[in-house]
Amino acid sequence: MTISKKGFGLAVIGSQWGDEGKGKIVHTLAEQSDLVVRFQGGHNAGHTVVTDGRKFKLHLVPSGVIAGKRSLIGAGVVIDPRALKREIEELAANGIRITPRVLGIDYRASIIMPWHPALDEAREKRGAMFGAAVAAAKKSAAGVIGTTKRGIGPAYEDRAARVGLVFADLIDATTLREKVFALHHYEQRVLHSLHCGLAESPERIYAEYATLGREFALFACDAASEASDAVSGGARVLFEGAQGTFLDVSFGTYPFVTSSNTIAGGACVGAGVPPRAITRVEGVAKAYTTRVGNGPFPTELFDAIGRHLQEKGAEIGTSTGRRRRCGWLDATMLRRAHQLNGFDGLHLTKLDVLDGLRELKIAVAHEVHGKQVREFPIGVRDALRARPVYETLRGFANVDWKKVVREGKKKGFGALPSEALAYVRRIEALAGVPVISVSVGPRREDIVFAKN
Ligand code: GDP
Ligand code: IMO
Ligand code: MG
Repeated sequence: MTISKKGFGLAVIGSQWGDEGKGKIVHTLAEQSDLVVRFQGGHNAGHTVVTDGRKFKLHLVPSGVIAGKRSLIGAGVVIDPRALKREIEELAANGIRITPRVLGIDYRASIIMPWHPALDEAREKRGAMFGAAVAAAKKSAAGVIGTTKRGIGPAYEDRAARVGLVFADLIDATTLREKVFALHHYEQRVLHSLHCGLAESPERIYAEYATLGREFALFACDAASEASDAVSGGARVLFEGAQGTFLDVSFGTYPFVTSSNTIAGGACVGAGVPPRAITRVEGVAKAYTTRVGNGPFPTELFDAIGRHLQEKGAEIGTSTGRRRRCGWLDATMLRRAHQLNGFDGLHLTKLDVLDGLRELKIAVAHEVHGKQVREFPIGVRDALRARPVYETLRGFANVDWKKVVREGKKKGFGALPSEALAYVRRIEALAGVPVISVSVGPRREDIVFAKN
């Protein structure tokens, strides 16, 4: 495949534990794109777009739809048809009509069935399955991993076990019937072994899902070939990542991760495009760190600064409404994220949230077993024990961010207060990646781009 000079495939990837502001950045970039593709995850994602005085929360539907761009749900995504219907209805109530012209769904995307969230919840309750690592982790009321309980993990398991349903099955009543009846019986036995069960009968599930299948049939498409052809034909394609690098099932803080490959390589396998179709990779990083759910978080803060970040940053999960854990920026994470994704540039978001802090800290290394390491620890046990080594920079306060945005149009980062600029430049140096935009508010326009 050759890629014309004009065409590009730009992957936008979270570089921490999700919620970095990908929705906002994708929406901003979508204006100059022709097609937006989601390639992994499911409705565990919550991407916020604030534009023209309105706020949209997207879970499964790519953020491109807000800008009216054709958007695809790729084969690597797990779709809960009930959640998709709800989301389409909410978007319609908000003035965004999702028609088959706007949205395409790959025939090969996996389907989340009612037993998947039931299994997710049962496992989270059961607890001690991961032994000592989990015992050392802080347990929340949410369960062991602290999943979104949306059935994401069990649906990916079924895909790997080759017993799951795909979108083509959902829209074909005969296959749907066969699979629902066979699987219901099996899944019910598994659930019983975990001391729970499904209240819904196979007849009811089949009837409801067959109706959903009929409603969604017109969205079916070969998203992989559409996306590949678009890039090779000179179109501008955005690949919208969900979750973040440290939630990647292979390279994240396993087992406290999601069940898909969230890193840039995941865009190829999830969307079904050749590696060369991804011509550029941009990371999204919050100016500090947050995490929802359990697992290691060396720079987590439990003091007044943590509360400042939580409150000023309105750090409440978009999907589950849980409070996000907050802490200082960890440059060792950004370095690892760059290694894994090969960022061409970083979008740094929520810089405004740091306004009012006297000093700012960045973790530049970690102390593990009495030794300093410059890398984020690979094993979960080490990551749980890691003690961050900080560098301290001067903070900034009472910044007129509107003025920064106004002046930023001409001056680029020159419009930032000197302390904020020093913070951005230090992040660039530590991560080894240029910062290409700094976001200073939730709205689409609250952004300053670097001047070339
Ligand atoms: P995503 O999952 O990566 O798309 O991020 P979320 O939408 O879950 O979380 C990011 C939150 O921060 C949302 O509420 C956004 O509206 C908000 N946000 C994005 N960028 C900024 C920013 O620069 N400043 C502030 N204050 N809020 C922002
Ligand atoms: P966006 O796309 C933040 C977290 C959950 C849990 C772990 C596993 O909005 O950045 P799962 O339900 O996926 O099996 O849960 O992953 N998680 C996210 N955290 N942002 C997300 O998505 C997340 N999606 C999953 O909290 O710790
Ligand atoms: Mg989110």
